[in-house]
Amino acid sequence: MSKPKPARRRSRRTAASSNSYELYELSVQNTEAECDFIDQVWRQRRRRLAHHVREDFCGSAATSIEWVKRRRKNTAIAVDIDTSVLDWARSKLAERLTADEQQRLSLRKGDVRQVRTPPVDCVLAMNFSYYLFKTRQELRHYFRRAHRALVDDGLFVIDAYGGSDAFREMEEKRRVAGFTYIWDQHSYNPITGDALNYIHYRFPDGSEIRKAFTYDWRLWTLPELQELLREAGFAKVTTYWEGTDKKTGQGNDEFTPTVEGDADAGWIAYLVADK
Ligand SMILES: C[S@@+](CC[C@H](N)C(=O)[O-])C[C@H]1O[C@@H](n2cnc3c(N)ncnc32)[C@H](O)[C@@H]1O
Repeated sequence: MSKPKPARRRSRRTAASSNSYELYELSVQNTEAECDFIDQVWRQRRRRLAHHVREDFCGSAATSIEWVKRRRKNTAIAVDIDTSVLDWARSKLAERLTADEQQRLSLRKGDVRQVRTPPVDCVLAMNFSYYLFKTRQELRHYFRRAHRALVDDGLFVIDAYGGSDAFREMEEKRRVAGFTYIWDQHSYNPITGDALNYIHYRFPDGSEIRKAFTYDWRLWTLPELQELLREAGFAKVTTYWEGTDKKTGQGNDEFTPTVEGDADAGWIAYLVADK
């Protein structure tokens, strides 16, 4: 599952010469589109722009990096539980950000269920990372923590995916920047809702990085997520559904608030929860 990026010219990447965090950024993330969406939502819902964000499950902190580059007043706190990805992110900061931008980004090792941070305008949990919380109790607890982390008119922005294909065991392949990204929906258990997914990478020389990333998730549905956000204390929850490109019949990257979606086989949506 991913937000596609345009393919680039052929490269000589191999499994041995590649870094999985970099491959992930290239193949999965579209941080500009994410930050555009945050700006859109703040303009529409609050008639102002957000300045201070917390990126939960930040990985390499790519969204926070895009955020602090975007405007001089912007700050970001990027939280991840994994020291190795934070170390990699830190090692890249000097080449990715100016000294001033680095000052406005804080990388924090911590568990999103426990971390304490100064109040922010917006908490983000992107690329479905919170699907790893598998019970209503665990997920509601995390949502409560996100609620508590916000200023009084703060917004919590998360994404979600679903549709009939989400429940199938299948692989989706896509060429990206000289390598192939493989999204492997490996197993799904309809009794528990558990979904085990992997990302693999394949290179032009035939080498592979198998199971570069593993996601042991529960497939949450939008009604469950809306209910849990309300139970966690959010005053209002709005679903932003993607429009359709008339020519291709595919998603057009434009998300608008709605209460009626269509029975698409594979959709991505955003949920915006008002404190
Ligand atoms: C799918 S990656 C998300 C990367 C990026 N934020 C994105 O949008 O694509 C999930 C990240 O969540 C982190 N993570 C898992 N459990 C966590 C927890 N309880 N608290 C903080 N980070 C956690 C993992 O270490 C991993 O880097």
